[in-house]
Amino acid sequence: DADYATILVEVRDRTGLIRLNRPKALNALNTELMTEVVAAAKAFDADPGIGAIVLAGSPRAFAAGADIKEMAGKGFSEMVAEQFFGEWDSLSRLRTPTIAAVTGYALGGGCELAMLCDMIVAGESAKFGQPEINLGVIPGIGGSQRLTRAIGKAKAMDLILTGRSIGAAEADALGLVSRVVADEEAEATAFEMAAQIAAKSSIATAVAKEAVNLVFETGLAEGVRAERALFYSTFATEDQTEGMAAFVEKRDPHFTHR
Ligand code: CAA
Repeated sequence: DADYATILVEVRDRTGLIRLNRPKALNALNTELMTEVVAAAKAFDADPGIGAIVLAGSPRAFAAGADIKEMAGKGFSEMVAEQFFGEWDSLSRLRTPTIAAVTGYALGGGCELAMLCDMIVAGESAKFGQPEINLGVIPGIGGSQRLTRAIGKAKAMDLILTGRSIGAAEADALGLVSRVVADEEAEATAFEMAAQIAAKSSIATAVAKEAVNLVFETGLAEGVRAERALFYSTFATEDQTEGMAAFVEKRDPHFTHR
């Protein structure tokens, strides 16, 4: 897209693609890139023509982390004053389902960005890790929280304290990723999943991901109660009427809020 310097944006059918595009820096996440990814994601989120978002990098790197060169000279006061990395949080508030297609490095902020998405599709070359400890710092885009929720304390401590990275097979075994496929298939698989999701009622998909994400913020009883309320709310939609009528009439549903 002509408006962006560090990303490429594309629409394929009902899926929006955001491609990180700083190849010489292995897609290191600087402030400009953060601002652009967030702006593009919010624009897709506001577009009723978009039902799912794919976030991708390059074959060699999804993203090798936050931009170390940008951060190196900064001090505490500056980081606080800028609320450095703060904007990334808005990706967790998108209603549109998001899928990260990861090949190559997803380290530090790259791993955190992938985890900010609803699902990760990994190519066989994918490498995930939180190597911040090697730089004398710690994860700062939610890695200590989201990695631990994703793979548990034992494995998260291992990765965050040693800084080692793991391959696609280990990430799969740990439950960090939804699917592992050949590198060449990673984006195509993400797009297939996105197309399936984008064909549903967008109200239903938004509510479904909201319900799943509640797990990370509530206890079981409260979460089940909240799910029930969200479930009831879907019966206020035309799409529930249509979806159930289509089943009974043995035809494909035509969702209004696609
Ligand atoms: N920030 C800035 N530049 C980066 C970068 C990063 N995170 N990662 C790679 N680059 C740059 C390199 O400096 C290099 O640039 P030059 O050609 O100008 O020297 C270019 O990308 C290619 O990188 P390498 O030559 O290092 O490539 P390699 O194949 O030898 O190694 C790598 C690949 C193992 C991923 C290595 O680049 C590396 O270790 N990168 C840093 C990984 C890292 O520490 N990430 C965490 C960053 S901190 C963070 O993310 C904080 C947080 O919580 C958000």
